[in-house]
Amino acid sequence: MGKHKVIFDTDPGVDDALALYYLIRHPQIELLGVTTVFGNASVADTTRNARFLLRSWGVSVPVHAGAAEALTPDMPSEDYPTHIHGTNGLGDIDIPDPAVEERDTAARFLIDQVRANPGQIRILAVGRMTNLARALQMDPEIADLVGDVVIMGGAFRVPGNITPAAEANIWGDPLAADMVFGADWHVTAIPLDLTTRTLINRRELQAIADKGGPGMQLVADLSQDYIAFYGQAGFDGMVIHDCCAAVFLTDPDLFRLVHGQVRVLWQGIGLGLTIMNPRDRKGPNAEWDGLPLQAYAQDGDVDAIITRIAQVCGQE
Ligand code: BDR
Ligand code: CA
Repeated sequence: MGKHKVIFDTDPGVDDALALYYLIRHPQIELLGVTTVFGNASVADTTRNARFLLRSWGVSVPVHAGAAEALTPDMPSEDYPTHIHGTNGLGDIDIPDPAVEERDTAARFLIDQVRANPGQIRILAVGRMTNLARALQMDPEIADLVGDVVIMGGAFRVPGNITPAAEANIWGDPLAADMVFGADWHVTAIPLDLTTRTLINRRELQAIADKGGPGMQLVADLSQDYIAFYGQAGFDGMVIHDCCAAVFLTDPDLFRLVHGQVRVLWQGIGLGLTIMNPRDRKGPNAEWDGLPLQAYAQDGDVDAIITRIAQVCGQE
């Protein structure tokens, strides 16, 4: 079997950085490009960060800047989560390059890659869904031409991490997320239901870096404040949300999925709430009828997921 052709849509972001490292080190993954979005920091910062990471690792793949704001109308104002990801988005490690505003070419890049590789592209989206939704708006036919879409996002049976209702990536552009779940492509969400149980503590992270060398050491260095934040929040280590979703690309058997149609609330106090209509539910479903069946990971083999990350990122 050939390699998985992946486009990574991301807002680096500390856990995004680990996921990006995982993608470039995985022997079965061919990373075709990176598209960036605002979220953990401004899009100028997240784009600069993606380029900085790839250059530091000696990897040359295209990086396309994407959305600077949500599609959802009347979004509440928000501050970037500097207390989690640092003011520069990468744990305030030293980054020599300035962040500059760039033209938004992410949606166009996604469309062009999908059309050039029909049925083959796997999109891994671990930030707000704005770039994906914009690509669907610009060229709805791509839904049929994408291999599948894997996202880190949602909180289906657990409280959110940004409001009681919502997970941050979905909350940040809930209308875009509703469009992504409603499009006629295969979406698998890796939500907080699972990701908040995938943890790597300081000692384990350093052990992976000791084996993996300078590239992984950079990830460990930029993760230190993030680990401290999660420690104060009661977690024994860093929550590796985005890398957990990356593992799904090649190891779907480690995840237990449930299927149904998904809607996202994009107004009111439930802004960003993800609701699945399970496929075996009987009864009227006016707001869900006709939508495609999607999936989310309700559970998974947490130890095996962490072991896989340690194997891939801890290679010399
Ligand atoms: C998600 O929000 C971001 O802060 C993280 O990078 C992750 O993608 C977790 O809710
Ligand atoms: Ca992210």
